[in-house]
Amino acid sequence: MAQTEEKRLPRHLAFIMDGNGRWAQERGLSRSAGHRAGAERLREVCYWVLDYGIRHMSVYAFSTENWRRSKQEVNGLMRLIPDFFQRYAAELRELGVTVHFVGDLEELSPSTQKIIEKMRATPPDQPEMDLYICLNYGGRREIVRAVQKALRSPDPLALADQLTEERFRDFLYLPGMPDPDLIVRTAGEQRLSNFWLWQAAYAEFYYSPAYWPDFGQADLAQALETYSHRQRRYGGEKSVDAHH
Ligand code: FPP
Repeated sequence: MAQTEEKRLPRHLAFIMDGNGRWAQERGLSRSAGHRAGAERLREVCYWVLDYGIRHMSVYAFSTENWRRSKQEVNGLMRLIPDFFQRYAAELRELGVTVHFVGDLEELSPSTQKIIEKMRATPPDQPEMDLYICLNYGGRREIVRAVQKALRSPDPLALADQLTEERFRDFLYLPGMPDPDLIVRTAGEQRLSNFWLWQAAYAEFYYSPAYWPDFGQADLAQALETYSHRQRRYGGEKSVDAHH
């Protein structure tokens, strides 16, 4: 059948960029050097994902739990992230990448908030892809924030009677973002680690043994190839094709 020959791509491809620390350790480098290499790899992955014509991509850059790491590592990441966007904001804009930051952003440093604001104010002229950067993000935190927003509505008791899954979505950080279809986690670990808890309800998972700084074009192709053969049922009986 022609339809099965055709490559089915995810509409939203999400990455858990794991293994920067191990990549660095194997080279006798600092964990921060691993994160720097991971950031450069992220830039390259954006090019490859754009080439596939995938419209939505998200990455888990810093979780609400990552504050527990050593001060040195946290500081390194908190410097690296604004530096990265200062360096590459114009390039991403040229490529047509609209960058959205997702999480409790008010807890981030003034320099990070400044670059976030600047990028928000200057979206690309010709949007090709939405890139969601989860920063100080936790899935449970997002759901708690959503409940808080709902309870602060003018008539919370009336809302309680009307609340559906679809209406609840309006209280999430980005109600308009399509759910991830495929979540790729690198470095061999097989868990969600508080990423997209609500949105991952029907996501497919793919685990790559490669450390994130080594995750290459062939690894991405393999992930997408595997995904294209998965049958998605969304709890129903028949295969449902939700691709656009
Ligand atoms: C997990 O690897 C990775 C992180 C906690 C941070 C991810 C950040 C980046 C890839 C770079 C910065 C991002 C942007 C948006 C510029 P790990 O340190 O847990 O690796 P390990 O499991 O091998 O120790």
